Amino acid sequence: MTLSSIHKFKLRFNMDIRELTGLRGKVAVVTGGGDGIGRGCALVLAAAGASVVVSNRTLSKAQDVVKEITGSGGKAVAVECDVANDSHLDRLIDTAVDTFGTVNILVNNAGLGGGGRENPFNIDRAYVERIFAINVIAPWKLCRLAAPHMQRSGYGSIVNITSMSSINNDPNMAIYGSSKAALNHMMSNLAFDYGPMGIRVNNVGPGATRTRALSSVLTPEIERQMLAHTPLKRLGEVADIAQAVLFFASPMSSWVSGQTLMVNGGGVQTL
Ligand SMILES: NC(=O)c1ccc[n+]([C@@H]2O[C@H](COP(=O)([O-])OP(=O)(O)OC[C@H]3O[C@@H](n4cnc5c(N)ncnc54)[C@H](O)[C@@H]3O)[C@@H](O)[C@H]2O)c1
Repeated sequence: MTLSSIHKFKLRFNMDIRELTGLRGKVAVVTGGGDGIGRGCALVLAAAGASVVVSNRTLSKAQDVVKEITGSGGKAVAVECDVANDSHLDRLIDTAVDTFGTVNILVNNAGLGGGGRENPFNIDRAYVERIFAINVIAPWKLCRLAAPHMQRSGYGSIVNITSMSSINNDPNMAIYGSSKAALNHMMSNLAFDYGPMGIRVNNVGPGATRTRALSSVLTPEIERQMLAHTPLKRLGEVADIAQAVLFFASPMSSWVSGQTLMVNGGGVQTL
């Protein structure tokens, strides 16, 4: 079977397979897109044909990712965005609409906390409020801002990056874990609210994935312990997570909503 004969292979509903996996003409917004998992999501969505709004707290990091995308023939724009700042969130969605006409895909990737650093006797209210502001309130606000554009455009898919910590019981992770658990529940409820508007909402939950954040806590001993509980015998790579995001973003998952997909090598990596 040649590649072109695979492309010509018509699935049910008479759809070309490239229409199922491709995002040509779609507009994607990614938070925290300058680094790690967010950068991976921006690159994979652009490779699938989407125009990507890459946002990051540090503008130069978003600009570097935009250069990578446009250098390979894709379309992208960089936006400085601290997701804890409401006016930055407004500007992010406005920029997407002004530059590319709409928003079809929203990847709520920016997140804070984790890494087993939350000694419950040392953290204070301000810490808890900041974690929830970034991991729960910002995704909620962006959903609210993006949904009307998604509805008008006729295509909407929201993907939140949650965490295995949302379902695990780990030491020193009570606030991060509960914020990601809140993100899971918000997602499945919003899937109900937005479904009739033609908008799907899903979560991707990474296990331990090789980013700078992980390397700051990983020791050879911790890695050995993690791999002992990981059937696929390796830690995650950014591409593993980004490919799951692509599935939810694309029409491949057109009847999938309200789901959390844990991408974790089949196991549980605890610190
Ligand atoms: N790497 C892992 O092993 C892992 C595991 C589970 C979940 N996650 C989740 O994946 C997502 C990405 O994490 P990562 O590992 O790529 O890197 P990370 O944890 O270092 O960074 C998260 C991203 O959020 C951004 N961010 C943090 N605060 C922000 C703010 N106020 N405004 C805008 N952006 C902000 C950072 O710049 C970064 O791009 C996060 O939501 C994280 O919780 C990661």
